[in-house]
Amino acid sequence: MSERTLVLVKPDGVERGLIGEVISRIERKGLTVAALELREVERSIAEEHYAEHKEKPFFGELLEFITSGPVVAMIVEGPRAITAFRQLAGGTDPVEKATPGTLRGDFALETQFNLVHGSDSPESAERELKLWFPDR
Ligand code: CMP
Repeated sequence: MSERTLVLVKPDGVERGLIGEVISRIERKGLTVAALELREVERSIAEEHYAEHKEKPFFGELLEFITSGPVVAMIVEGPRAITAFRQLAGGTDPVEKATPGTLRGDFALETQFNLVHGSDSPESAERELKLWFPDR
């Protein structure tokens, strides 16, 4: 059964020229990019996207960062796409959790600047896709 997930290439990934690398790994895995948009992130979208982190000490920094430059937002589709992409991304902390061979393990050093986002559950995917791609 096919599933859809929201993938973001965060501002660090766009600035470092890693959009192609992210898309390439998604496609090589066998997943499909069903929609793709380079866009500036409105503060209201960022706040809603990261609502679960509202009380965290890094919430302010996180909003600053995600709105600091364009991101690439994608709908990625395929069998078990949510888990499949999270495996490609690697753990949130790119040094302690993400292993070499994953996007974060290969290209990131700091938790805040961890290159990509992928929905973490079917419920998050549904909520995030509605927020980022309301017409799709
Ligand atoms: P993401 O998986 O997109 O979702 C939450 C984000 O918060 C996470 O990636 C990181 O970018 C950020 N984050 C998580 N923990 C920290 C932290 N300790 N300091 C700064 N940013 C963090």
